[in-house]
Amino acid sequence: MDYIEIEGGVQLNGCARISGAKNAALPIMASLLLAGGETRLRNVPRLRDVATFSQVLQALGAKIRAESHELIVDTTTIDGYEAPYELVKTMRASFLVLGPLLARTGRAKVSLPGGCAIGGRPVNLHLEGLQALGAQLEIEQGYVHAHVDRLRGTTIGLPFPTVTGTENIMMAAALAEGITIIENAAREPEVVNLADALNGMGARVAGAGSARIVIEGVPQLQPATHEIIPDRIEAGTFLVAGAITGGEVTIDGCRPDHLGVLIECLRAVGAGVDVGDDWVRVTGVDRARPIDIITAPYPGFPTDMQAQMMALLSRAVGTSVISETVFENRFMHAAELCRMGATIHISGAEATVTGVPALHGAAVMATDLRASASLILAGLAAQGITTVSRVYHLDRGYEHIEVKLAALGAKIRRMP
Ligand code: EPZ
Repeated sequence: MDYIEIEGGVQLNGCARISGAKNAALPIMASLLLAGGETRLRNVPRLRDVATFSQVLQALGAKIRAESHELIVDTTTIDGYEAPYELVKTMRASFLVLGPLLARTGRAKVSLPGGCAIGGRPVNLHLEGLQALGAQLEIEQGYVHAHVDRLRGTTIGLPFPTVTGTENIMMAAALAEGITIIENAAREPEVVNLADALNGMGARVAGAGSARIVIEGVPQLQPATHEIIPDRIEAGTFLVAGAITGGEVTIDGCRPDHLGVLIECLRAVGAGVDVGDDWVRVTGVDRARPIDIITAPYPGFPTDMQAQMMALLSRAVGTSVISETVFENRFMHAAELCRMGATIHISGAEATVTGVPALHGAAVMATDLRASASLILAGLAAQGITTVSRVYHLDRGYEHIEVKLAALGAKIRRMP
C-alpha cells in the first residue's frame, strides 16, 4: 500500500488550483438517473469516490466516459435497480441513488451503507423522508427494498439538517406529483449546486441554501450540462497548509463566499487572509493563537475541517477547545497527532488542545479522509520525517494532494 513521506519544516509558498467538490459531484452524478439521455459534467474532480460512483451508475445501466475533468454520462437505459453492498460499503454516498432510482423507475434495492470510521452514520432520515413521499420500504438482509407507483409531494420536517438526506429527498421530490417542502433542510453549497443541476434539467426547486426548500414535481426531466462547484474543504485544507508552515499560499479557482467561517478562524489565530473574487491568500504565522471551535451544519464551522484545524492548533501558543457536534467519533486523528508530540485530551465530544512549541515527525496512520489530511498538515510543520500510511483514505477526497503540495515547495512524496 502507498504511503506518503514528508520532510517537515518547509514554508509553503505559491498558488494551488482547487478541484471540483467531491460532495457536489457525487449527488449530481446520482441526479443524472432522473433523466434519460447524455449529460456532460464539468470540473469533476478525479477522485476514487468519483470512480466508485461511476461504477455504481454503470451497474444500473448508465454508460460513462471520462475526458480529463469532464464526465459524459448516458442514462438512456437504466435497466438495473440494485446498488450492491460491495460498492456501497466502500462508499456510503452510493446511498444517494435510492431517491433518484425510485423516482425514475419506481423501484430500488440499495444496500444500507453501514457505519464508517467517524460514526454509525444512520440513514433513518433518508428512509422516513422517502416513506413520507409514498415509497414502500422493506429492509431485508442489509438492503433497502423500495417501490412506489408514483411519489407524491408532502411536507417533510427534518430533525437534523442531514446533507445527503436532504439531497436524496430533493431528488425524489423532483419527479413526485405535487409540492414537497423540506423544513430544516441542509444549507450546504453542495445542496445548492445539486438544486441548480436539477433546475437545469427542468426541475422546479426553490429555496436551496435556506432551511426551507420547496420542490414542485414535474412529469419528466431532460439531461443538461452542469459545472461542479470548487471544493471548499480542499480549499480550506490548503489554506491551513499555508498557515501551519508560516508561508504565503494563494488558492485559485475557489468560492470565497463558501469559506466565510474558516477565513474568520484563520484571522482569529493570527494568520493574514486576503480575499479576491475567486481566490484567497493566506499568510501564516510561526505559531497560531489558540481559539475555541464548535463544528456545526453549514454555515457553521464545517466538521470536515475539524481535523485540519486541530493540526494547526496543536502548535498554538495556548489551549484551544474543539467541540465536534456533528459526528460521534471524529477525533481519531488526535491520537496520531499526539504521537507527533501534540498534547490533546479528549473528553466525549470535546478535544482540549494544549499548544506545544514543536511537533516531531513520526510514522502515523490515516483512519479516515479528513484525519489523513490533518496528519499531512502536521507532517508539513513537524521537525523531521513523517510517514503517513493508508493514504487510500486521502485519495478518496483529494486529487493528487502530494503533487499540489510539492508545487508549493513541500518536501513530500508518495512511496509505493
Ligand atoms: C455529508 O455526509 C458529507 N458527505 C460528509 O462529508 C460531511 O461530513 C457531512 O455531510 C456533514 O457535513 C457527502 O456529502 C457525500 P449528514 P452525510 O447526514 O450526509 C446524522 C467527507 O469527509 N444522521 O449531514 O452522511 C449522522 O449520524 C464526508 O467528505 C442521522 O442521524 O452527513 C450524523 O451524526 C464525511 N440520520 C449527522 O446526522 C440520518 O438519516 C450528519 O450527517 C442521516 C444523518
